[in-house]
Amino acid sequence: MNQEQLLRELSEFLRIPSVSTLPAHNQDCRAAAEWVAAELRRLGCRDVDFLGSKTHPVVWGKGPDVPGAPTLLLYGHYDVQPPDPLAEWTKPPFEPTISDGRIYARGAADDKGQVFCLLKAIAASPRPAVNFRFLIEGEEEYGSKVLFDLLKREPQRVRADAVLVADMSYVAPGWPAVYTTLRGLCYAEITVRTSKTDLHSGEYGGAAPNAHEELCRLLTRLKSEDGKINIPGFYTAVKRPSKAELAAWKKLPFNEKDFLNKRVQGKGLVGLKKYSVLERLWALPTFEIHGILGGFTGQGAKTVIPAEATAKVSMRLVPNQKLATVERQLAAAVKRFTPRHVTASVRFLHGADPAQIKIDHPAFTLLQRAFKEVTGRSTVPARAGGSIPVVPALGSAGAPVILTGIGLPDDRLHAPNEKLDLKQLWDGIEVFRRFYELMGQGTRNA
Ligand code: BES
Ligand code: MN
Ligand code: MN
Repeated sequence: MNQEQLLRELSEFLRIPSVSTLPAHNQDCRAAAEWVAAELRRLGCRDVDFLGSKTHPVVWGKGPDVPGAPTLLLYGHYDVQPPDPLAEWTKPPFEPTISDGRIYARGAADDKGQVFCLLKAIAASPRPAVNFRFLIEGEEEYGSKVLFDLLKREPQRVRADAVLVADMSYVAPGWPAVYTTLRGLCYAEITVRTSKTDLHSGEYGGAAPNAHEELCRLLTRLKSEDGKINIPGFYTAVKRPSKAELAAWKKLPFNEKDFLNKRVQGKGLVGLKKYSVLERLWALPTFEIHGILGGFTGQGAKTVIPAEATAKVSMRLVPNQKLATVERQLAAAVKRFTPRHVTASVRFLHGADPAQIKIDHPAFTLLQRAFKEVTGRSTVPARAGGSIPVVPALGSAGAPVILTGIGLPDDRLHAPNEKLDLKQLWDGIEVFRRFYELMGQGTRNA
């Protein structure tokens, strides 16, 4: 298939605003699932099923049987994050635009562009001797509940010789990677209430408690200025990376100054300064405030003491930490740090355990070869700061889970002007094509 045709088809996929967290886009999520299903049928899948949900179904497919060949499960997601703030996009997020060798759209790199590579690599001839299974979900950006429930009921869906997940990036241009860990996530809303209703700040100010002030105090208690998270017990399970791993990271093309100036584009980095930036991003847990609701935020001025305030927060978890434990620890810490004149509650929205992956299975060597042949460089082992909730479950039947990706670190995932470099797209298709071919040859000769 020629490149223009491929770009037309990718654009069609990217044009669907399949934002899983916003109910107004339920129909769009369904449409993106249909797009994937049509593609799977074109690849010769006889059984293509929509599982678990009408609006955000897991698209399951089973490719043509190749007796004696290995089974490879491909995982990806067709849902995307909300595109706001819209005003910061140079071109609208759901009108894919190609300029200076890149395609710009929400989902270009995370994850529609990568799902596209996984699928188009199969169509390239000759057909690889692999039994393909497909698990393309529509709720990854919202915690993957539908897929979790499905795998609890039907764990045989992940039975395979290997699982390939393409939802990450190179560590730097020209440096493809396989990932040995993913951070987990614990997402919560913390609400504080200080009075029955809002109060006039003249009549009551000076004596009545203020919900926003109490919330701010609570939040800064949970994490202090030096970056330390003060939730009792939070760091107990955290293990430092080995000396060898830390030494290997020093050889990666990662520069803390460039990270600040080119990627963060801020004035300074924060966090636990005695650890390297990579260790802070990859091997330490976090506590972030995503937004604060409540009180008066309209135009102009209103003199009021807010009675209620809510913070959306999340913690990234690292290997050995457990979501269930951290949930308990956060709830206990909030209780402990809340003064008697305040009522606080915690509501958990979604979460994920961290993942740790051994990369010694022969399938990793094949991927390494494919990258080396196509891009000139083998994969390097790295860790990921992000989360893919279902990854631990994908490995639960014993198959090696290969975490890789064809994006670049500056793709602006979840942010305005998300993009994918076309070179990464074409190389990506070629790398996966070669990987499938090697997988097919591997077992037949064995
Ligand atoms: N593809 C990302 C995960 C990712 C990002 C891995 C960067 C490695 C590096 C995925 O789509 C994602 O954004 N996951 C969410 C999960 C959450 C909403 C449960 C995340 O990490 O915030
Ligand atoms: Mn993703
Ligand atoms: Mn994402």
